[in-house]
Amino acid sequence: MLQDSFGRVHDYLRISLTDHCNFRCTYCMPQEEMEWMPQSKLMSKEEILTLAETFVGLGVKKIRLTGGEPLVRKEFPEILERLADFPVELTLTTNGVLIHKHIEVLKKAGVRSVNVSLDTLNREKFLKLTRRNQFDLVWENMLLLLREGFRVKVNAVALHGLIEDEICDFVAKTEKLPIHMRFIEFMPFAGNHWQSKKVVTAAQMLDLVKGKYEIVKLEDKKHDTAKKYKVPEFEGTFAFITTMSENFCAGCNRIRLTADGKIKNCLFGKEELDLLGALRRGEDVEEIIRLSISRKHKALGGQFDPDYLKANPEAIENRSMIKIGG
Ligand code: GTP
Ligand code: 5AD
Ligand code: SF4
Repeated sequence: MLQDSFGRVHDYLRISLTDHCNFRCTYCMPQEEMEWMPQSKLMSKEEILTLAETFVGLGVKKIRLTGGEPLVRKEFPEILERLADFPVELTLTTNGVLIHKHIEVLKKAGVRSVNVSLDTLNREKFLKLTRRNQFDLVWENMLLLLREGFRVKVNAVALHGLIEDEICDFVAKTEKLPIHMRFIEFMPFAGNHWQSKKVVTAAQMLDLVKGKYEIVKLEDKKHDTAKKYKVPEFEGTFAFITTMSENFCAGCNRIRLTADGKIKNCLFGKEELDLLGALRRGEDVEEIIRLSISRKHKALGGQFDPDYLKANPEAIENRSMIKIGG
């Protein structure tokens, strides 16, 4: 069991399969030129499976595959099929654009829930944000997932100047579609030009929704990242991921493994321990995992006090989101 010094048990592992992505979202990757990880630094398929097996042995019960975009990794189907042999809930966060090519392997591997990132319902805004003209394909693939019986959560980063106009349109989509919308407060990462004035808080979004709909609060579970709501009679739900206005670190059960094999005990933790290096040198990987968990901070990687960050937005030491995987 991986328990930290605050008594939190860590049983949810997020594995990033690659730092590559077929989109270019400005909030996720540095706007300056980005250096991709060299192939030799990436975990091979076998190394991913060996490390995953170690984590499962230590009590991990849920594995989420992330990226960059996990579906651009060529060995995705083989990795998924092999992970399906472990006694874990398998899941995925994707931009959706390659889902139609992988729908059968997702079913075969027993994946039941997929999180799709989609920040706008407007084609032109989509192109501007992702620098790819793929709105229709993402939407079609989201519908395909629903038709094939997957539980679908849709992640929209709440970008100031964009979400205000669209939030009620997104909620309207939950009337007929059984999707679970999640509006995510904009978070700071290396190179994404975060500023506190760009954050739209859950409270502000809630007010906009309440202006149009009668809503009810749904019960949240201990480890949830999102605070859930619903318009009664609607098929789907909506929720807020409130990292910036009200962190949910007390219920944290998440560990991250980056595509270059570093363990991160927190999304905002600047400490990374090199599991892949240790594995390649034949060292004790389990010991390093335990060490990482034992050093986990109480909240937000111990790095930022929101007031300090407001005044010093570039002060946070971390990777860019594309190199973490969310
Ligand atoms: P579920 O397991 O379906 O609840 O998904 P999830 O919220 O764990 O994962 P997803 O990849 O869909 O992430 C949605 C948003 O939540 C992203 O912006 C993530 O960065 C953010 N998120 C996920 N895990 C954490 C976390 O541990 N801490 C913080 N602060 N944000 C997180
Ligand atoms: N703030 C909040 N969410 C972000 N994501 C990527 N970058 C950020 C950010 N700066 C979201 C993606 C994806 C999830 C893994 O993280 O949109 O849905
Ligand atoms: Fe866990 Fe860190 Fe996220 Fe807080 S910010 S919920 S401690 S990963």
